[in-house]
Formats: sequence, C-alpha cells, structure tokens
Amino acid sequence: MIRRFLQAGVVALLLMQSVALAATSPRSGITYAGADVRALQADDFANPGMLWVARGEKLWSTPAGRNNKACASCHQEAASSMKGVAARYPRIDTATGKVINIEGRINTCRERNQAADPLQYESEELLALTAYVAHQSRGMPVAVVADAANRPHLERGREIYYRRQGQMNLACVNCHEQNAGRKLLAETISEGHGNAYPAYRLEWQATGSLHRRLRACYFGVRAVMPAFGSDELLDLELYLARRATGLTVETPGVRR
Ligand code: HEC
Ligand code: HEC
Repeated sequence: MIRRFLQAGVVALLLMQSVALAATSPRSGITYAGADVRALQADDFANPGMLWVARGEKLWSTPAGRNNKACASCHQEAASSMKGVAARYPRIDTATGKVINIEGRINTCRERNQAADPLQYESEELLALTAYVAHQSRGMPVAVVADAANRPHLERGREIYYRRQGQMNLACVNCHEQNAGRKLLAETISEGHGNAYPAYRLEWQATGSLHRRLRACYFGVRAVMPAFGSDELLDLELYLARRATGLTVETPGVRR
C-alpha cells in the first residue's frame, strides 16, 4: 500500500517539468521545512536534538575504556578543541587512506586512546558524542576542500550521486536538484545537504545520523541500503560536504 503510494508520488513528481537548479548558492534543508519545524530548530530550548548534545557533553567528561580516560582528559574544553572540526570533516584518515567522518574519528579515539570498544552506529552514545562534537562548529562554514588525497573518493561520491538505482531507477540528483522545492507525498524535497546532521527527525522521534537519513533515501527508491559506515556512504558523505560549500554547520537540525 505504502509502496503503491510512493510509486504514484514519484511518477507524479517525474511528470512535472523539472527545473534545473540555478548554479547559485545552496539552500539548507531547513529553508524548505515548515514554520513549525523551523521554529523548533531555531530555539535551543525547544530543539529536541539538544538533548543528544547535552548527553554528549556528559559523556565527554566521563572516563571510559581500559585506560579510564575521558575525551576531556586529552581534549579539555570541546568548545575550543572541537571548534571547526565538523566543518572540515569527512576527511582522509592518514593511517588508512580511507574517508573518515566524525563518527569514525570518535571510534578511532575510543580504540586507540581509551582502549575501549568502538560504539555502534545509531547507538545513543555515538549519536550523542557526534552531535556534541559537531555542535561545536555550529554557524561555521562547511569547508571540505578537494585535494589529491580525497579526489578519488569525491569522484566516487559524485558518481553515486548521479547513478540511477533501485526499482524506481532514480538518482539523488533527480530528486535533490531537479525537483528541489517540489512535494513528494507529505514532504518537500530539499537540496539534500548533510550540514544539519546528526538531526532530530520527528518521524523517528529521535536524533539520527546522516547515514541513517541516506539509507532512508536508498530505501525510498527501493535500492539495496549500504551498511552504516560503509565506503559507499562515506564517499557520498564526502561528496555531499563538498557540495554543501557555502552553507554553515547547523547541528542539531530538526526535520519532519
Ligand atoms: C525519490 C526522491 C529522492 C531520492 C532519489 C533521494 N532522496 Fe534524499 N530525500 C528525499 C526526501 C523526500 C527527503 C526528506 C525531505 C528533504 O529534506 O529533502 C530527503 C532527504 C535527504 C537528505 C536530508 C536533507 C536535510 O536537510 O535534512 C539528504 C542529505 C539526502 N536526502 C540525500 C540523498 C542522497 C545522497 C540521495 C542519493 C543516494 C538521495 N537523497 C536520493 C527524497 C529523495
Ligand atoms: C588519550 C588521549 C585521547 C583521548 C582519551 C581521546 N582523544 Fe580524541 N584525539 C587524540 C589525539 C592525540 C588526536 C589527534 C590525533 C590525530 O589527528 O591522529 C585526537 C583527535 C580527535 C578528533 C579529530 C580532531 C581533528 O581536528 O581532526 C576528534 C573528533 C576526537 N579526537 C574526539 C574524541 C572523543 C569524542 C573522545 C572521547 C570519546 C576522544 N577523542 C578521546 C587524543 C585523545
């Protein structure tokens, strides 16, 4: 039933004449949201995502692992040590040559510096720490630059962005550039930027990672969902960050 609805919605969407996105400045997803959602995101006391930020703040100074060290033992005040970090992530991990995002970087510190097990994607702890770290960059311009090391991954992310997939045979670009601003069922399609994540989604009644949101888009077109933290989603995350140049970090965002 839901699937039939969705298909009908997509077909209707594609019948509409698509408008090419003007090569002007990008617009954050929040500008496509309704007034209620915009008001929630704008008010730190009403924004439910701030609960995860507060949990992250607590975890930041809680000792963990066999080394019994807290993040704060090494990084002290997150407000200064983590300021700007989320704005330049994801980046290339020099140790592995792979793309690493904030979640991955936190887990690297857990393993290498706390002698603790890595945290699961979408666990409350990893979401809280990620939201807390990213929040320290709120208001700062997204600043992922292309260089020799990340170029192959940016290219791959771009390929994925333009690749049609799933039973609906749709690429990211078909919705988020060609149909941004149009309705798909109850939702208004945005430009698909990741600058507000982790974000609180009313439908989830929880804060979720960017990878959770991306998997929902794969599911929406009936494509196989890549695993959380997979190379595919990391390359895509890197490409999205590059594409979001001109926007600022908004974590924690609020979405429908
Ligand atoms: C059938 C249309 C469709 C396709 C194809 C699609 N999405 Fe989405 N996507 C949506 C809708 C609807 C939403 C929720 C409303 C919004 O924020 O755009 C969304 C949300 C998002 C968001 C969150 C934006 C925000 O501000 O919260 C991101 C990021 C995103 N999509 C990226 C992608 C990527 C990357 C792909 C390709 C793998 C993709 N989407 C494919 C429809 C689509
Ligand atoms: C024993 C000391 C130590 C502990 C404990 C520790 N870290 Fe780190 N962390 C480091 C060092 C050293 C670096 C930089 C090393 C590097 O760049 O490879 C780093 C880098 C980072 C970065 C990337 C910063 C950047 O500018 O790229 C983040 C994010 C981070 N840590 C988060 C955390 C979090 C969250 C915790 C707690 C869960 C934590 N760290 C615990 C030592 C520590």
